Amino acid sequence: MRLIMLGAPGAGKGTHALLLSKEYNIPQISTGDILRSHIKNETDLGKKAKKYMDKGLLVPDELVVEIVKKRIQEEDCKEGFILDGFPRTIPQAEALDKALEELAIALDKVVNIDVPDEVIIKRMAGRRVCSNCGASYHIENKKPLKENICDECGSELKQREDDKEETVRKRLQVYEEQTKPLIEYYEKRGILLTIEGDGSVEEIGNKIKNTLEVSK
Ligand code: AP5
Repeated sequence: MRLIMLGAPGAGKGTHALLLSKEYNIPQISTGDILRSHIKNETDLGKKAKKYMDKGLLVPDELVVEIVKKRIQEEDCKEGFILDGFPRTIPQAEALDKALEELAIALDKVVNIDVPDEVIIKRMAGRRVCSNCGASYHIENKKPLKENICDECGSELKQREDDKEETVRKRLQVYEEQTKPLIEYYEKRGILLTIEGDGSVEEIGNKIKNTLEVSK
């Protein structure tokens, strides 16, 4: 199964990519997580990416395309993968098409999670992520067992730099302008599945799984 998770920032791409990754036993490839790990390790790529990410802007296409092209050729992607946060622009989608064609593989489905902006802004304000392993929580909807401590590795939870309300609004604007056109791009291919994403994680997860099963 080769999937793309599409949706505005905070729509739940990462949450559901992780659940699907466990369900289908295929890796979740989050360009956001990969870039954040470069920032943490202070690599050249991380230093370049940080300037854009802190402002809520997209990192230049050529940087992310290279990351994904390499990653999908790794051994654990043989049976499939879930792209979370990529592609995010039409040129990225075209570059992905080209890479997949060269590898003689094809996408199965694009899951588009549709959530109203007001719900997103509320969700982002409550998101907390592990400063060490990147696991994601929410102060109301997905509480850690111990307040402000990661269940997975015991490190401290923090608010992401780009989750401040002003930056979230910028990211939503960038999504409208640069990422939303991908809905039509994949709709024309007949592989787009749109899921109404305002509901509990369990409800949305079940909707996604059922829709994927029915569309097989
Ligand atoms: P990235 O990390 O990909 O951020 P994003 O797309 O903005 O998405 P998020 O991770 O913020 O949200 P999500 O949809 O995964 O939601 P989540 O499941 O966490 O990218 C960050 C930055 O990196 C970009 O701004 C850009 O600069 C750069 N970048 C990354 N990829 C790039 C690319 N391809 N090209 C160029 N630049 C790129 O959920 C959010 C919160 O809500 C969580 O707390 C969660 O617990 C909670 N939640 C989820 N679902 C529900 C629910 N149903 N009910 C209640 N709460 C819920």
